[in-house]
Amino acid sequence: MTAQKIDPTATNSAIVADYRARTGGSGALFERARKVLPSGITHDARYLDPYSIHVAKAKGPRKWDVDGNEYVDYFGGHGAMLLGHSHPAIIEAVKRQMDLGTHYGSSHELEVRWAELVCELIPSAEKVRFTASGTEASHMAIRLARAHTGKDKILRFVGHFHGWHDNVAAGATSHYDGTTTPGVPQGVADLSILMQSDNVAAVVKMIEERGDIAAVMFEPSGASWGQVPLPAGFVQAIRDVTKKKGVVMLMDEVITGFRWSMGGAQKVLGVTPDLCILAKIVAGGLPGGAVAGKREILDRIDHAATAAKKQEKIAHPGTFNANPLSAAAAVTALTLVRDEDLAEKANKTAAELRKALTEVLVKESVPWGIYGQSSTFLIYPNPTGEKIDPANFEPLKSGFDKLKGGRSGPLAGKIRMGLMTHGVDVMGSPGGFVSATHGGAEIEKTVYALRETVRALKAEREVKAA
Ligand SMILES: Cc1ncc(COP(=O)(O)O)c(C=O)c1O
Repeated sequence: MTAQKIDPTATNSAIVADYRARTGGSGALFERARKVLPSGITHDARYLDPYSIHVAKAKGPRKWDVDGNEYVDYFGGHGAMLLGHSHPAIIEAVKRQMDLGTHYGSSHELEVRWAELVCELIPSAEKVRFTASGTEASHMAIRLARAHTGKDKILRFVGHFHGWHDNVAAGATSHYDGTTTPGVPQGVADLSILMQSDNVAAVVKMIEERGDIAAVMFEPSGASWGQVPLPAGFVQAIRDVTKKKGVVMLMDEVITGFRWSMGGAQKVLGVTPDLCILAKIVAGGLPGGAVAGKREILDRIDHAATAAKKQEKIAHPGTFNANPLSAAAAVTALTLVRDEDLAEKANKTAAELRKALTEVLVKESVPWGIYGQSSTFLIYPNPTGEKIDPANFEPLKSGFDKLKGGRSGPLAGKIRMGLMTHGVDVMGSPGGFVSATHGGAEIEKTVYALRETVRALKAEREVKAA
């Protein structure tokens, strides 16, 4: 993740000065935090220069920092909080489970119900194995694909993020040329074939021609939940060629699962992968992940199935796999997702939000773009001054380098701080996740915050026109 470099003293920026003035308590906590936590944070996406806010509580679509500032929250627990914060049914389910025990070290009914719900909702899920995070699910899915096919290479796409383990480090947020990242041997990075997603024919040809690919792994939204959308027909083309060649199609639904629709992106696209990985919403906002897919592939971690086929079983421990607290939250969340179609509710709100934010850019004559799929939105702040009509923004015309590589930086940090000083917290992209609890009041507040922010940025000559 590229650091957003703003001069921490930034005395020349009214936006940064205002941010500092409102968030003294967070600033003081940051001074303590940076002595004991690298960068004072616990996840790279929470990095902000001079410092990020420290949050004290959250409810529904809102959260409050330690200085008492209220925010409309689009961080959404990194996408996990489709139900909004502190949903009463989740709180009740987790509290009930707390009394019954938080870790049995044994099988329990909730994990069975959880798996049944995943299999009911996700088209490709014939069997499921729970993990403690999306990264772990990603790691296991790759291992399963390699064992199933007997091949080593994973075809991935630049900018697509699949967690932070060694197999998927190069090319996700940096090193788009496939060179390895610090701490990961080049030999591990070389097991990935990294491609751009904009040329489907080249991808199909690569799969057709090579005989050493175990899996094709991708985010069905396009890189980083849609910052760089996929061209039309991409997913079906991958399905067709992987099926023909016996390559595992591995869809990363960590973000899109239960969000793009109750059946994930695969249901919306009508394309069923061989394997998918899930996390975030799958565990109802508590820690958890899952690998789901074809029985014959998941059977590689099944004692009886491997014995019957005289195969060596893949080991899969994990202390907190399907822990009772996560399982309690998950069963409650997925039941609500199914019965109240929460994905659809959030999708509708996000569509209204994107429209309203686009109108702000048009009225303020700002040559940026608002885009995004499902219940997400993204602000493209046009860092290089391309000619953009905000009313008709087509992200793919800007291309990968600008959409992904060139978008973070001081400007994105200032946008975040500008929005925060007007009561809205977004992710660094900038953009974020809409929950089923966001509504008209949140849209109105966000419109106001964006309008005030672009005006402040104009005053600081940060809005570039072509
Ligand atoms: C698409 C995608 N895959 C995998 C992961 C890794 O999940 P986790 O953070 O639970 O390890 C993430 C996390 O943001 C993600 O967005």
